[in-house]
Order: sequence, then C-alpha cells, then structure tokens
Amino acid sequence: MRVKVENLRGDWDKETLDPKDWEEFSSLGHQMLDDMITFLRNIRTHPFNHPTEAAINEIFLPIKDEGVGARETYNHFKKYILPYTGLVVKPQFWGFVLGTGSPYGMLTRMLIAGVNYFDEGFLSSKYVYKQALSWVKELLDFPEKTSGVFVGSGSEANFTGIAVARNAKAQVDMKTKGMQGVERYMTLYCSEETHDCLDRSVELLGLGNEALRWIPTDEESRIDIEALRKAIKEDRAKGYHPFCVIGNAGTVHTGAFDDFNKLADLAEKEDLWLHIDGAFGAWVKLSETHRHLADGMERADSLAVDFHKWMNMPYTCACTLVKNRLAHYSTFVYGHDAEYLKSVIALVDDQLENRGMLSLPLSRPAYSVLTYMLLKAYGKNKYRRLVQKNIDQINYLAELIEEEPRFEVTAPVTSNIVCFRYRPNGLSEPELEKLNRLILGDMWQINLGMISDTTVKGKYTLRVCNVNHRTVKQDFKWLVEEMKKSGDKHITQFQ
Ligand SMILES: Cc1ncc(COP(=O)(O)O)c(C=O)c1O
Repeated sequence: MRVKVENLRGDWDKETLDPKDWEEFSSLGHQMLDDMITFLRNIRTHPFNHPTEAAINEIFLPIKDEGVGARETYNHFKKYILPYTGLVVKPQFWGFVLGTGSPYGMLTRMLIAGVNYFDEGFLSSKYVYKQALSWVKELLDFPEKTSGVFVGSGSEANFTGIAVARNAKAQVDMKTKGMQGVERYMTLYCSEETHDCLDRSVELLGLGNEALRWIPTDEESRIDIEALRKAIKEDRAKGYHPFCVIGNAGTVHTGAFDDFNKLADLAEKEDLWLHIDGAFGAWVKLSETHRHLADGMERADSLAVDFHKWMNMPYTCACTLVKNRLAHYSTFVYGHDAEYLKSVIALVDDQLENRGMLSLPLSRPAYSVLTYMLLKAYGKNKYRRLVQKNIDQINYLAELIEEEPRFEVTAPVTSNIVCFRYRPNGLSEPELEKLNRLILGDMWQINLGMISDTTVKGKYTLRVCNVNHRTVKQDFKWLVEEMKKSGDKHITQFQ
C-alpha cells in the first residue's frame, strides 16, 4: 500500500541513529575506550564473579518504547554486564580452545564496525582481502593459486570444506539433484578424536552421520591408517562410495596431529578428497620445534583454520582454503540467476574469487580486514614466538604434573594440550572420574572454564589447552598447587 507523503509523521531529517551531540558522543566514546583499556590492563586481578540476582533482574527488563540512550546503556553495561565477564581474557584460562583476544584486536574491531565493513570486495577491501588470503596461504605453505574464503568460525570453515568435497566427489549434479540424485551411498572417514562440528557438517549436508566412519587412533592419538584402509575396503565391497577422509591438525582432545603424508598418499590412491581440520592446530606451522607435525598438511584438498583461537584475533574469524578453485566456486555459486545481484557480480573481475559465492553467507563482517591488520601489526615473528611459547609452556606444565606423585599425564603431549588426572593409588575408574570432576568443579569456582575435561581412550581426564598469550610460568605452578589442594581435600571421601 502506498502512503501519502502528507500522512507521514515526525521530522524525517532529524530521525537518525547518529548522535545529536557529537561532542558528548566523543566524550562517551573516549570513556568507553579508556575503561576497556583499563579493564584489559588489570585483567590479571579482575575477579571472577557469577552475576548477582540484582544484575540478572536488571538485564531481564522489558524493552522500552523510548530507549534510555547511549550513556545510560553504557553505564548499565559497566554495572551489570562487564563485571561478570572476562573469563577467557584472564592469564589463567586454558579451557576448551578459546582464544584470548588482544587490546589491538579490540581496536581493530572498532575500526571495522566504524565503516560497517562487510567484506564487500570493492574499493580498498578488494585488495586487502586478496593480500590477507595470500599471507594466510604463505604462512600455511599453500600454493598462491589456492582458493580461499574467510568465514565466521572453525565449524563454518569445516562445513565449507566438506560441502566442496561432497559436491566435487558426488558423481551427480549436486546443485540440481542434491543427495536425492546419489546412486551409491557416500561414506567419509575421520579419527575418533575429530571435533563434533564435522559430524554436524555431515548431518547438515544430508549425508547422515552414519556415513561418517570414526576410525580408531594409535597410541599417539593419530588416525590408524591400517584401520582406515580396511574400513574403506569394506565400504567398497558393499558397493558404497568412499569419497572423503578428514585429517586433524591438532585434535581438540589431545592436540594430536595425524600423519598427513600417509593420509595424502592414501587419499590419492583411493581417489578421496582430503580435508584437514586445522581449526587451531594448523598454526603449529609457525613453531620452530614442532612445525614438522604439520608436514604434508599442504597436500590437503581443503583446510579449515581459524584465527580466533591460537592466533588470538577477536571472535570470530576463520578461513577455508580449497585447492580446486572451480570446485570451490561451483559448490557455493547460486544455482540460479540472482537477479538483484547481477550488476554487482559483473563488477568482480575474476568470478572464481567472488567471496559471496565461496561460502554460505552473502553478508559478513570484514574478517579479511581484521586478519590483515593484525598480521601486519604483529608480523610473522610475533606469532611464531607466541605459538612456540604456548608449546614450551605446556611441556613445562606436563613436567610439573609428572613431578607430582598423585598426578598422571594421560595422553602424549604433542603440541599445546596436556591431559592429566589426579590419580592416587587404589581408586577405580568411576571413582577417579568422580574425584577429578570435583577438582574440575573447584577450578571452575576460581575461574569458570579455566581448565576443561574430556574422555581419552575411555578415561575421564582433565585438560589444559594453552593458546593464552598472557600466561606466565608462575601461573602453571599456581595451577598445579590449586589442583593438588583440591585433590587432597576430596580424596578423603574415597578412603
Ligand atoms: C579442532 C577443532 N575443530 C573445530 C572447532 C570448532 O571451531 P569453532 O568453535 O570456531 O566453531 C574447534 C573448536 O574448539 C576445534 O578445536
């Protein structure tokens, strides 16, 4: 329905999200910046607190017809939100694989938000995108002509790689027929240490999670190549279509690396797509002592990697590299004419580099600008030293744990993760699990998620994953003491 102009209400020219008073806005902006810098500067002593009931009540209020304004909203943030945050930026945080961010990363995000950058691929961002991608390929030893796309997370980066693998290997026109057109059951393979996001990708791509074969691992937590070979053979004998093998560059449980040269040889022989999940671990390439773990990674058909974990860029930012440019493009390019985009698509010189056609989202934040600025600001050597420091620190922590008679390291320390448990003599496996869960609970009282847990080869275990650039040696000494105190306190229940 058309609206008559004279019926419109309000003063259009004054209705905007820009501030009425730029001076006041500038003073608020400076205050916000100063406050956040102070917050990060003092993060070591920032207390861990659960939100109080009063804070929760303040958060759960109905939306108002008239907003309370920028300053009052910021005061609200400072009072009721900020004090109950900050877990992962603390020097004593090693849970899951959560990156620590950086003060400069925070500022970079502000610049990107300022121009509401959406990775548009025009003007300066076109060149920045190309250069950032080129640096990433260089750091990971991928050929310059490799296709690549910046995406939102490790999960999305893996999804993107597996989607290309499926379409490239399906032997049917996936765009038009989809999985409905597949004649032979498609199967794919990964080690039992693989991150669950790959399972989810397989489900979302219509392959069904039964098609993903979880292959056992050897003592080093690497995929067992013989077991893999056997599984492929059995599937072929059933008339199935094995199409992809997923390797791990740093498993989320133990930080293990598969033998990529062996995997690549097998994939070539069996005509399988080799996808590698290097979400955090691919950056081991930057380490002086451990880069060999990634040998052969550059032979993958696709690689998922992210920047918000070991590279400590602010959440979120990741990337998928795909060797076959056409296969990458053909998977995500619209299967029909996108009428309203035709003219703008025509502006892109090389369609195979049109990032809007290389992963699911069309609009996205300028991940490439973020990556570009942080790689430029810090340079290769800073990241090399940080990756190396985290690996060295984990080996130091493993030594401290091994020196404690009541603790044991439960998995080989390959890269930046150590798995261990408090293990006094005479307790059964279920009792050990119960006891170590209590220790985890105590650690989470100090800082929620400070360390995490998992199960490795059927054994419940505690886990420290170190991508933290703020941790110092003393923090690990302190951690071992705290865990010892906790274990010694709880052991009395079991004796
Ligand atoms: C090995 C591995 N792959 C994939 C992911 C998923 O990444 P994201 O959390 O960025 O989606 C993770 C997250 O911890 C991971 O460790």
